[in-house]
Amino acid sequence: MSLQEEIKKRRTFAIISHPDAGKTTLTEKLLLFGGAIQTAGAVKSNKIKKTATSDFMEIERQRGISVATSVMGFEYSGIKINLLDTPGHKDFAEDTYRTLTAVDSVILVIDCANGVESQTEKLMEVCRMRDTPVIIFINKMDREGKDPFDLLDELESKLDIKVRPLSWPINMGARFKGVYDIYDKSLNLFSANKTKISDDIISFDNLEDPQLDEIIEDDAATLRHDIHLIEGVYDPFDINKYLSGEVAPVFFGSAVNNFGVKEMLDTFIRISPNPQGRDTTIRYIEPIENKFSGFVFKIHANLDPKHRDRIAFLRIVSGEFERNKFYHHVRLDKDLRFSNPTSFMAQDKSVIDEAYPGDVIGLYDAGNFKIGDTLTEGENFFYKGIPAFSPEIFRELINKDPMKSKQLDKGIEQLTDEGVAQLFYLQPGNRKIVGVVGELQFDVIQYRLEHEYKASCMFQPMSFFKACWVTSADKLKLDEFTKRKANNIGWDKDGNPVFLAPSEWLLNTARQDYPEVVFHTTSDFKEVLT
Ligand code: G4P
Repeated sequence: MSLQEEIKKRRTFAIISHPDAGKTTLTEKLLLFGGAIQTAGAVKSNKIKKTATSDFMEIERQRGISVATSVMGFEYSGIKINLLDTPGHKDFAEDTYRTLTAVDSVILVIDCANGVESQTEKLMEVCRMRDTPVIIFINKMDREGKDPFDLLDELESKLDIKVRPLSWPINMGARFKGVYDIYDKSLNLFSANKTKISDDIISFDNLEDPQLDEIIEDDAATLRHDIHLIEGVYDPFDINKYLSGEVAPVFFGSAVNNFGVKEMLDTFIRISPNPQGRDTTIRYIEPIENKFSGFVFKIHANLDPKHRDRIAFLRIVSGEFERNKFYHHVRLDKDLRFSNPTSFMAQDKSVIDEAYPGDVIGLYDAGNFKIGDTLTEGENFFYKGIPAFSPEIFRELINKDPMKSKQLDKGIEQLTDEGVAQLFYLQPGNRKIVGVVGELQFDVIQYRLEHEYKASCMFQPMSFFKACWVTSADKLKLDEFTKRKANNIGWDKDGNPVFLAPSEWLLNTARQDYPEVVFHTTSDFKEVLT
């Protein structure tokens, strides 16, 4: 098969949702359709329950599940689908944000009763940053939820995206009768069915057909009215607007009942983007370029002290990757080869000989990689846009054992390379401020410093509100700002100044007082230095 054909048959995406909306359930149904698993219940939730905070090994056990399911490959309708899993727990949200840089589209799951929730908004913000195409699945229609029109309005207003329903529910909760597929003009009747693939589909070209009244009785009039309204209010579905991230097609269903899932999957296959190129420090790289290149977006450490290796997850952007061939590690200016690169099919890992754009492979690594690293066939460039996100909780790392300060320094450097947390240095005294998105990360860091680096530490709370990277076209102004605010200026690992804002109010005041200074909430602006 040619490179072009390999690219055409691939789709790489992630399912995102606020916890409990049904991401795990939907994932499982997709794997059932793809034949990657045979029974329901085979996919374990990677949700990390808050009660497990004190029990670190439990967290790790669950993280173990999450690495096993980090990438789930399966075939459906002749298409190779790479589904990238994202941690369910909000404290691991930064991991999710980074995974989103490695996909070409997403499916967003919404609970019909809860509508748009806090985590939904944050995840969508990240998708909107790079105009990732989004399909929305409104789940749990077998339960009482919000009015579907209200839900659509809520999606548009809270997620800053236009929506276009492609299926429409007939009632909900105990009276849920099914969905009307607006695209295919067919009626899909609901029967609660947890494992079988539902095939109760009736074609309905003309909704005025009296047969509709026989089948869905009183709900027929409402359905006709709703569909008229939709056709009047919403523009016809435009695939280009979906691909450019302006419009999200919406489906209704019930994942646990395997209902409405196939319609969505079939549409996904039809409209979702092939593996896309990515921007680099020198030019845009197209997937069809013959020379291999890719970037690392996730690193998973093996916590077993007997096997200290880590797995770096690499998304292939261009060309063909081959086992045992030397590739150029741009940051280290070093050539490396990989004798056992792995691919992931559902829960199985296997060594692969070659891989193509859109694929995600696992590379065993003894410490060469950090997040954002680029591999090429010799060219010197870096993939852009694997940013660090502004952390929200800050603590000072205090060394409890002065004899082990080297171990502590090395440990925190490496853990932050893995993306577990972000590290800022505060002057004077080179104080180490650790910033995370969620509390659980502090437990992870403390445990790993102790067990992997034999360093002992404690954390002292710091009352910062947000970290913003600061830049300015006017160097003198930036210097003035960093001098004035010296007590609140941290320096990231690359030596960039970061304003550790004590409160939202003080952040806004600083913005007003220094209009020449730009405050960034992600490190995306950074040009990686070659
Ligand atoms: P998540 O990964 O997004 O966190 O959600 P998950 O799939 O684990 O689903 C959360 C809960 O919602 C689960 O119930 C799941 O069974 C239920 N659920 C998912 N889809 C539907 C649906 O279409 N209708 C209804 N009524 N429920 C749905 P749980 O009680 O937390 O777990 P379990 O014991 O059922 O596995």
